[in-house]
Amino acid sequence: MPTLMNAERAGTYFLGGDLPVRRLGYGAMQLTGPGVWGPPADPDESVRVLRRALELGVDFIDTADAYGPFEADRLIRKALHPYADDLVIATKVGLSRPAPGIWVPIGRPEYLRQQAELNLRHLGVERIDLLQLHRVDPSVPLAEQVGTLADLRKEGKVRHIGLSEVGVDQLEQARQIVPIASVQNRYNLADRASEDVLDYAEKHGIAFIPWFPLATGALAKPGSPLDQLATRLKATPSQLALAWLLQRSPVVLPIPGTSSVAHLEENLAAAGLSLSESEAETLSNLDY
Ligand SMILES: NC(=O)c1ccc[n+]([C@@H]2O[C@H](COP(=O)([O-])OP(=O)(O)OC[C@H]3O[C@@H](n4cnc5c(N)ncnc54)[C@H](OP(=O)(O)O)[C@@H]3O)[C@@H](O)[C@H]2O)c1
Repeated sequence: MPTLMNAERAGTYFLGGDLPVRRLGYGAMQLTGPGVWGPPADPDESVRVLRRALELGVDFIDTADAYGPFEADRLIRKALHPYADDLVIATKVGLSRPAPGIWVPIGRPEYLRQQAELNLRHLGVERIDLLQLHRVDPSVPLAEQVGTLADLRKEGKVRHIGLSEVGVDQLEQARQIVPIASVQNRYNLADRASEDVLDYAEKHGIAFIPWFPLATGALAKPGSPLDQLATRLKATPSQLALAWLLQRSPVVLPIPGTSSVAHLEENLAAAGLSLSESEAETLSNLDY
């Protein structure tokens, strides 16, 4: 039997029913400067991270216009263009960036459309594989925001549509307008507030993309509550946190972020880690 590449061992999920992606992907937000603003401290290492991710079997990358803005997109294009046929790049629109560390939702149709067009241009693609509404703008009807993404899909500029940071009600409302392929909410061992959304996604065959899968690094640090079990299983805390997510549900697609090749390699090795039922339960019940 051929040796499987790391991400491959996590298995495959069909986004929107027809777009295969390996279940362990990569989130590009860390490829920016402080406050998710401007270029990263070491752009050459960022290029190495992206290329290494693909070498290790990753075929699903999550980015957003807001990362930098457009810094992550520029690096993805620099490192990976022309893209492999099977590479799936998910991006987002709907959060504006007036300054470092500041994120303001804008859901007006003309802004969502402009940012989708800029995403196409910066990434260098003719169609966005998965376009996610980054945040629902409370000052614009949800139907108008989702309707704009649906129009872009009708025009052939977008293949699948996803949502981010939504509740079950919003997900249901959006699904009346257009098929929703994915939902991206904050979810990790230490923060399971979106459990109901994950259960809904699983029931309806929608991908659940947990952002902050490592609680932005807190779960990966030495001294994390996962340390003891990690030592026993000869794994690292970040690998346990990711393996737990992969085992939580077959619709979960974690996208751990990192700016370092060493952390990337460590994280992707989680795809080969299988937790017993009791180990998964121990992790679920630790005090975070
Ligand atoms: N939809 C949304 O609203 C939303 C919000 C936030 C993020 N996201 C997406 O979700 C992705 C993942 O979130 P994230 O990147 O913010 O958080 P994360 O994956 O939970 O953690 C990333 C942090 O953990 C550190 N880290 C990663 N691997 C490590 C390891 N093996 N050992 C020690 N430290 C490690 C990274 O530092 P190093 O760089 O030093 O490795 C970084 O500080 C993002 O990249 C983005 O694509 C979406």
